[in-house]
Amino acid sequence: MTKNVVVLGSQWGDEGKGKIVDLLTERVQGVVRFQGGHNAGHTLVVNGEKTILHLLPSGILHPGVECMIGNGVVLSLSELKKEIELLEQQGVAVRTQLKVSGACPLVMPYHVALDLARETKRGQRLIGTTGRGIGPAYEDKIARRGIRFADVLDTDHFSEVLQENLDYHNFALKNYFMAATFDYNQIYNEILELADNLLPMIADVPMLIAAHRKQGHDLLFEGAQGTFLDIDHGTYPYVTSSNTTAGAACTGSGLGPRYVDYVLGITKAYTTRVGSGPFPTELTGPLGDILVEQGREFGATTGRRRRCGWFDAVAMRRAAEINSLSGLCITKMDVLDTFDTIQIAVAYEKGADNFYGRAPVKPIYEELPGWKTSIAGIDSWSKLPDKAKAYVKRIEALLEVPVVMISTGPDRKHTIQLAPIF
Ligand code: GDP
Ligand code: IMO
Ligand code: MG
Repeated sequence: MTKNVVVLGSQWGDEGKGKIVDLLTERVQGVVRFQGGHNAGHTLVVNGEKTILHLLPSGILHPGVECMIGNGVVLSLSELKKEIELLEQQGVAVRTQLKVSGACPLVMPYHVALDLARETKRGQRLIGTTGRGIGPAYEDKIARRGIRFADVLDTDHFSEVLQENLDYHNFALKNYFMAATFDYNQIYNEILELADNLLPMIADVPMLIAAHRKQGHDLLFEGAQGTFLDIDHGTYPYVTSSNTTAGAACTGSGLGPRYVDYVLGITKAYTTRVGSGPFPTELTGPLGDILVEQGREFGATTGRRRRCGWFDAVAMRRAAEINSLSGLCITKMDVLDTFDTIQIAVAYEKGADNFYGRAPVKPIYEELPGWKTSIAGIDSWSKLPDKAKAYVKRIEALLEVPVVMISTGPDRKHTIQLAPIF
């Protein structure tokens, strides 16, 4: 029986999705990225060697596994080429494994300029974006003026839509943002050159997925960002510009909704977030600093220090519902090794029903004893100290979702598998 497994972030991103997708790729024939762009930074560690991926699906280090970039992903051709070349230098045969949907909207140089100009204009209310042009690229997609990867195949058509887009965006850049404008010829030539290099990988991803299904293959669908960065379900407007939740695995790839068999939510044993926006369990004092230091909480894409706080079971229950989580993977358990006590937010003072409200919520905590011993690298449940087991069991009980994996270090092998996913 074929199995389609969606792997996604259930917090604010950086939960360790890359590591888990890489590990689970051992079991599948294909991996599909379905949303986001190169705002994502997914870290893989294999035998101590680190690889950070931004656009390529995290299955790419497994030879022979087909890696697909679905229509839901906004694609920077220059970043894709850079990433491919970096991996090729490491001996990865990216070009034979990678297929890219022709329906991917392109992230253009002017999107980056618009992203940065908008952030400056917002002043104190800035989103804290990655500055990669992701938001403006999705805006153009929804406005039906965006340029898709396949549009570059027809140079006359490409020329026409590029000119229209540049007229529109240059006007805003010049007159509204007082920023520099872009030259048509330069972009036209740059994109066509990149396209020459990358178009051999263009593919009809929905039909590839269908072919895998007919052959009884298993596939992974890899999310980027996390549930509360979702444009609809997140802490709007402090979100990214795509849907990051489970439904997007279908709309962003062409997988029919009835073919999703399993949704694996990835969560840290605590919480982090990069950029602005609400974060009920944030620790701004020395305890937060310990999480930053022990967890090396600096962004994989921008290098920014991540905000850190306790595990938020209220938000996570919401994530479990919205994504219909089948199972949970708790990562970075080892980061809590030194704490005397560990807190879990089990309710908010004003009730969890004001999630869309603007007033800050105050969490109500439950305290659990810390295990005060290193669990780094532990790969079996029986070797975990009882207090660590109790922490996992408490999360499981609060969320009513089975914990099927626990991660105790960055490497593939630092993982406890509790129940089969395939
Ligand atoms: P992603 O965006 O969800 O793929 O996550 P990132 O790669 O941005 O951030 C996760 C970070 O935590 C990376 O540096 C990983 O190498 C690291 N990591 C993943 N799992 C573990 C773990 O269980 N323990 C520790 N200490 N680090 C981990
Ligand atoms: P991965 O896939 C964490 C955050 C940014 C900012 C907001 C909007 O590695 O988990 P954007 O550039 O998308 O318009 O920024 O979203 N953000 C992420 N935070 N992990 C990510 O990706 C993120 N991608 C975007 O920091 O707050
Ligand atoms: Mg990341």
